[in-house]
Amino acid sequence: MNILLADEAATTAFGRQFLSALPEEIAGWTVLLSGELGAGKSTFARALIKAAGHKGPVPSPTYTLVEPYQLPCGNIYHIDLYRISSEEELRYLGWNELDDGLRLVEWPDRAPGLSATADLELLLAYEGDGRRAELEGLSDRGMALIERFKSY
Ligand SMILES: Nc1ncnc2c1ncn2[C@@H]1O[C@H](COP(=O)(O)OP(=O)(O)O)[C@@H](O)[C@H]1O
Ligand SMILES: [Mg+2]
Repeated sequence: MNILLADEAATTAFGRQFLSALPEEIAGWTVLLSGELGAGKSTFARALIKAAGHKGPVPSPTYTLVEPYQLPCGNIYHIDLYRISSEEELRYLGWNELDDGLRLVEWPDRAPGLSATADLELLLAYEGDGRRAELEGLSDRGMALIERFKSY
């Protein structure tokens, strides 16, 4: 699935819609957010986390690696792998323990093996003054979500 996000507001709306396409039980879902610096990965994550009911700021997890949110729909973990250099380092951030929530992962290319267990990959790219978003299903339920999304 491929859509043009003309401006920041479109990315924010997309993050909100994405949340509503997720099932009620978000625990164990992993969504990879790919794209170069400034592509809108954090904008998308922030919109989703706020749409899930978080008030207040959504700081970048660049240094903390994980920013956790306890929300009415369940836990959301905003993860940034920019500073890790291999899959083995995932244990430093307690990756396996984060399966009780939705994992939103920026810079997933730092741990390429993740795509084998993730549900979806959102690829964001610059296009003119806006961004192009490509949503790819990596699991059966991820592909089913895309079908739901298309019917909105
Ligand atoms: N669809 C869009 N069109 C134009 N600008 C956008 C769009 N989505 C987000 N932006 C802007 O681009 C920048 C993206 O920053 P950010 O979300 O931090 O990117 P990343 O996390 O990928 O590095 C922000 O300044 C944001 O306002
Ligand atoms: Mg970012």
